[in-house]
Amino acid sequence: MQDLDANDITDAVIAQMADTPDPRLREIMEAAVRHQHAFAREVKLTPEEWLKGIAFATAVGQACTPYRQEFILLSDILGLSRLVNAMHDATGREEVGTETSLLGPFFREQAPKIALGGTIAHVKSGPEIVLYGQVTDPAGKPVPDAQMDVWQTGADGLYDLQAHDPSVMDMRGQLRCDAEGRFHFRTVKPIGYPIPMDGPVGDLVTHQNRHGFRPAHIHVLISAPGYRELVTALYFGDDEHVDSDTVFGVSASLVVHDRLDLPDAPIPGLPSIRYDFTLSQESGSGGGRVGSDPSRLAPAG
Ligand code: BEZ
Ligand code: FE
Repeated sequence: MQDLDANDITDAVIAQMADTPDPRLREIMEAAVRHQHAFAREVKLTPEEWLKGIAFATAVGQACTPYRQEFILLSDILGLSRLVNAMHDATGREEVGTETSLLGPFFREQAPKIALGGTIAHVKSGPEIVLYGQVTDPAGKPVPDAQMDVWQTGADGLYDLQAHDPSVMDMRGQLRCDAEGRFHFRTVKPIGYPIPMDGPVGDLVTHQNRHGFRPAHIHVLISAPGYRELVTALYFGDDEHVDSDTVFGVSASLVVHDRLDLPDAPIPGLPSIRYDFTLSQESGSGGGRVGSDPSRLAPAG
């Protein structure tokens, strides 16, 4: 007969799960139980607080829709998405490529195709900039014909989905790099914006006295056969929140500045950013990454 107290409950739970046939599930659940119990002991969690925690988790689940993934937003603001992606980046590829960053909730498949030199700003207007560069492998060899998706807010800090009905696709596009891996396109300089603050995760961020903003950025997703898909973003160094991103997506190597004095700028006269992307070769099975896009989540079951 079980006669458990606060000291032996952890071992009893782990013992009951010991016959889990899938070894990875067993490893993950054992560690989850050990760490959750240690957490409850460390903070001396009271029943009232635990019920509040359950109410919070319930609200997070209830805020999820086919277009909104509040649990991933929670993982983002806790730095867990960054941690899991950073560990993934460090494994399973032969050489280091461009650093990755969060996919975020605003990626959409089948963005309008644009020609090299075209613009992704169809509806929104604002100060124009140009992004150009080259996609190579880690040895500097051009990756021909890579497909590049880019998406961002406009100068109003809103994504198309936030400003228009879903039939409108703006400030996003899909382009095909040339045979030398080169690309350039025009856009409007984005500004920073708050993460979705109208749900339980936003409430938590507010209770923690955090500003809730992401610094201005342009999301980039690049794919080419034989290479690991690159999901990253370029962050504007002149944004006041570049050192305090609410979802911890910024890396120093992804910080950019638009400039008027770049000698090889393809459209002289417009502030430009040159950024060369490096794709790493897959060395193993690869695997996915944490993004906030519900349509990219594997269906349950
Ligand atoms: C974004 O960059 O779009 C984003 C990423 C994580 C959470 C919220 C927004
Ligand atoms: Fe974003």
